[in-house]
Formats: sequence, C-alpha cells, structure tokens
Amino acid sequence: MAISTERGTPPAGMTPVPGATPVAWPYRNLLALEDLTAEEIVHILDTAEAFRDVSTRSVKKVPALRGRVVANLFFEDSTRTRTSFTLAAQRLSADLVDFSSKGSSVSKGENLRDTLRNIEAMGVDVVVIRHPASGAAAMAAQCVRCSVVNAGDGRHEHPTQGLLDIFTIRQAKGRIEGLNVAIVGDVANSRVARSNLHGLRKLGASVTFVGPATLVPRAFESLGARICHDLDAVIGEFDVINMLRVQRERMASNVFPSFEEYSRLFGLSGERLRRARPDVLVLHPGPINRGIELTADVADGPRSAILQQVTNGLAVRMAVLFLCHQAAGG
Ligand code: NCD
Repeated sequence: MAISTERGTPPAGMTPVPGATPVAWPYRNLLALEDLTAEEIVHILDTAEAFRDVSTRSVKKVPALRGRVVANLFFEDSTRTRTSFTLAAQRLSADLVDFSSKGSSVSKGENLRDTLRNIEAMGVDVVVIRHPASGAAAMAAQCVRCSVVNAGDGRHEHPTQGLLDIFTIRQAKGRIEGLNVAIVGDVANSRVARSNLHGLRKLGASVTFVGPATLVPRAFESLGARICHDLDAVIGEFDVINMLRVQRERMASNVFPSFEEYSRLFGLSGERLRRARPDVLVLHPGPINRGIELTADVADGPRSAILQQVTNGLAVRMAVLFLCHQAAGG
C-alpha cells in the first residue's frame, strides 16, 4: 500500500496577509497544523475557549461574522464535521451556503478550480473544503482570494479535528506538555492522526502510533512519532488514548486478516481499559464502528470524552472561522 507521508501543503496558502497587523493569528487560511507554531495553536485554543460560552447561552449567537458568507464545499461524506462548521458559522451570524459534489456541476465534470472561482464570484468570504485528495485545500487556497479552511484533505490533515482533540485534552488534563498520547489504529489512512501528531508534538506531548504494521508503518518515525505494534505491551503508559476509525473506504484489501482479529488486538474493550492508567482519557473522532475500535461500555463510559470532543468542535470551528476571516481583513 502506498503510504502517504507527504506534507501536501505548499506554503503559499499560509502566507501572512500583506499589511496585517502582527497579531497572533495572521493567516487567512487554516490548511494544516504542521504549518503552525505552538503559539499560534495556543492562540486558536484560547480563542475557542472564549467562544465556548456562547453555546451555553439561551441566545447562541454573536455578531462576529454578520453579513459574511461561509460556503461548505464537501466532496466527501460527512455528518459531524459538516454540521459542526454549519452551526459554527450560524453562531457567528454568517450566512451559509451548503455545497456537495453530489447534485452539483462537479458531477457534470467541472474542475475544482472552476467550482471554487464560481463560488468566490458569488461573494463568499470563507470556503470550508473537504476533499479526498491530499493537498486539495492548499490548492484551493491558491485559486481564491477568500479564506480557505481545510475540513479534511485525503490522508493529509484535518486541522480542526486535531485542534478540537487537543482542546479536549487540555480541558481534561489542564496541560499538553509532558503528556503521553497514544493514537491507535488506522494511522496510514488517517488525516486525524497527522494533525494530532503535529499539534501535540509542537505543544510538548509525546505521541505513539499503535496498530498493525500494515496500518502503522515505520515511515511515521520520520514525522516524530514512536511506533508500536503491541497495544497490550504499552497500554499502561498513556494519559490519552485516541482511537481511530478503521477507514474501510480508503483501505487496500488484506491489511489485516479479519475485523475480529483487529478488534481483539487493537480494539479498546472494558477489560483492556482496566490495564490503562485509571485517569486515562479516551477519544475517538467519529464515526465509531462500535465493536471494532471500541466496545459500547468504553465509548459510553466514564473515561470517554467523545461527546465533549463534538461539543468542543463547535467552539474550535467558531474560533477558526473568526480568526481566518479577521486576518483576511474581515
Ligand atoms: C474523521 C475524518 O473524516 O477524517 N472524521 C471526522 O471528521 N469526524 C475521521 C474518520 O472519518 O474516521
């Protein structure tokens, strides 16, 4: 199987906006956590903290993006991420255009650049893009002058998922520095794993990728991860265990013998969790294959922060939409 360790992000999309005042967040786009400094990541997390309160009010809106337009441009299926960006835009009082490749001119053969240029010509201020090709978000950022936010590009990065995972860890543990984080499962196909790795390491955590050799190849050591193929041997070491979905849609055949064997060796059951640290935090980006990555007692149990991740995702996406638009002169 071809292993993607490419950066996939030409730096052009992250060029600071000319003339922007030197604030902690000078970028019109968010393409990848690999591009950011620790200070910039912390600035997004702190901004998200401020937006978190908005969701607890009876009127869940602030006027930050009133009169602006956010376009969701999704070329892959999504429930959580798309709904989260939609609600985030609405809570910032932006107008929202929802666009999928199904039922659009893309199915008539329009290329990505033309689709983007047409959407921009309608006066969109922020494009949120999900695409099956690594590097698609960076390419989008070169095609348009409005802000571009990467909502997942192939196997490359999913920066807002990485940020919301880090936000949730910081909320539960009070820090990131010095933590031991395991990312378990289908790392080879996971943009979530890459965004977590870059973000967590920049903030001083250690990251171990755990899974079968076919899904956790040694090549990831070059990105700064420790690699391990035996979950039981290391499970007691971690402050956080982030379980990845087995991405059947991206997978070559025969990467492991059977789902039963996968879940026996790498799934998190209540029994296995008893050998982890008593205060371990369990994360999963969703959607969960219950019974494969996690058993129900773990997914719904006291160590799980899976629903907090979803709640925090909204605040993180509000912060990202707000900061990118502000840097673009909004
Ligand atoms: C992730 C994705 O799409 O990359 N999910 C998500 O954004 N909530 C992970 C996955 O699909 O497994």
